[in-house]
Amino acid sequence: MKIMILGSGAREYSIALALKKVNENLKFYFSPGNGATQNLGININLKKPLELAKYAKENEIDLCIVGSENFLAEGIVDIFKQHNLSIFGPSKAAAMLETSKSFMKNFLQKYNIKTAKFLNTNNLEKAKEFILNLTPPIVVKADGLCAGKGVIIAQTHNQAVEAASKMLSGESFGDAGKFIVVEEFLDGFELSIFAVCDGDDFVLLPAAQDHKKLLDQDKGPNTGGMGAYAPSSLANETLLEKIKKDIIIPTLSGMKKEGSEFSGVLFIGIMVVNQEPYVLEFNVRFGDPECEVLMPLIENPLELILAATQKRLKNIKINIKRAYAVGVVCASENYPYKSSEKTEISIKNIPENTHISYAGVSLDNGKLMADGGRVLVCVGVGKDIKEAQKKAYELCENVQFKGKQFRKDIAYQVAP
Ligand code: AMP
Ligand code: GLY
Repeated sequence: MKIMILGSGAREYSIALALKKVNENLKFYFSPGNGATQNLGININLKKPLELAKYAKENEIDLCIVGSENFLAEGIVDIFKQHNLSIFGPSKAAAMLETSKSFMKNFLQKYNIKTAKFLNTNNLEKAKEFILNLTPPIVVKADGLCAGKGVIIAQTHNQAVEAASKMLSGESFGDAGKFIVVEEFLDGFELSIFAVCDGDDFVLLPAAQDHKKLLDQDKGPNTGGMGAYAPSSLANETLLEKIKKDIIIPTLSGMKKEGSEFSGVLFIGIMVVNQEPYVLEFNVRFGDPECEVLMPLIENPLELILAATQKRLKNIKINIKRAYAVGVVCASENYPYKSSEKTEISIKNIPENTHISYAGVSLDNGKLMADGGRVLVCVGVGKDIKEAQKKAYELCENVQFKGKQFRKDIAYQVAP
């Protein structure tokens, strides 16, 4: 079977690695991929959806898995389907749950799904009025995709007004900020919830937790994510039932009513306040680094993805291993501020029950080089969270490159 995977991160690497583990005979085509995906398959580096569809047709690709949201925002799923190609992900219209925060907030309101109180606007005066009626901190978000940087948590009314003004004028995020969402701050703990969906049915994956801040104890700037673990014991059965009943089921039926049924990965950023789940955001693809800790826990990932693509999730059983995974991101020296010098990676050995998912790496005359912000993720798997954490850090110590930085406290919420 030939599988195309779109994206260049450790997320895409981890998907291929998990599929390969179960089925040796898969052939992988990555676009663009990275210096390590070349060891799992071929990098083809085509960017435009139409070029990719043409390549998939000509090379008889059986399935395309979309890792990154940019392809989804461009409507790659619609284009592949027009060409009778099999693809895992939501249509452009369904992807609006991620690509437009105001669409998402209006949708949540319309279908009575709990979320922070908000105002969508492109008018600074209206934004100001709403801001002055909230108690700080106040959250100001750009409507469009901003690579995870479009959310400002303002500590004062003045800061919130300034953030809104800079977004609306286009100064902060260009066109992505010309429409904004202002909302109340929710104080609780965050969970990343993943439902693999086929339009009607879904399979819930283990709850994960991401660590977005650069430094230990959640200090420093926001990043794409410095580590993750799953399953999280913070998500008990009662909470998961509420998430299914009050969020996932109404979202799938609501999207169907809107004429944009949702298939692919529904990634729900949840804030749990007094045991009640509130939707902070939707993403329409796997999280990175959450994907890297979920993949090793799914026994039959290919079956899951194929069933979701072919609308037969109702009839399959997905087995989740009784294990825990912790992933620690090793980033380059200047991440997330600016790029760093390319530098060689050396790996002493890979201990049992650990593996690496590669992201910002390239190959220089056969040498693997750290060549990006988030370079790689050290993943440890264990019978409990402590063991998985210990394994991940054991592997971390065995991986060296100049300027390597990583958090020392991944999974601290459940394994201090
Ligand atoms: P988002 O991209 O909307 O998930 O926002 C990025 C991060 O900002 C989230 O992971 C939260 O940590 C934080 N955040 C967003 N909205 C809120 C809110 N209403 N209350 C508290 N924190 C928030
Ligand atoms: N880890 C958060 C994200 O992928 O958006």
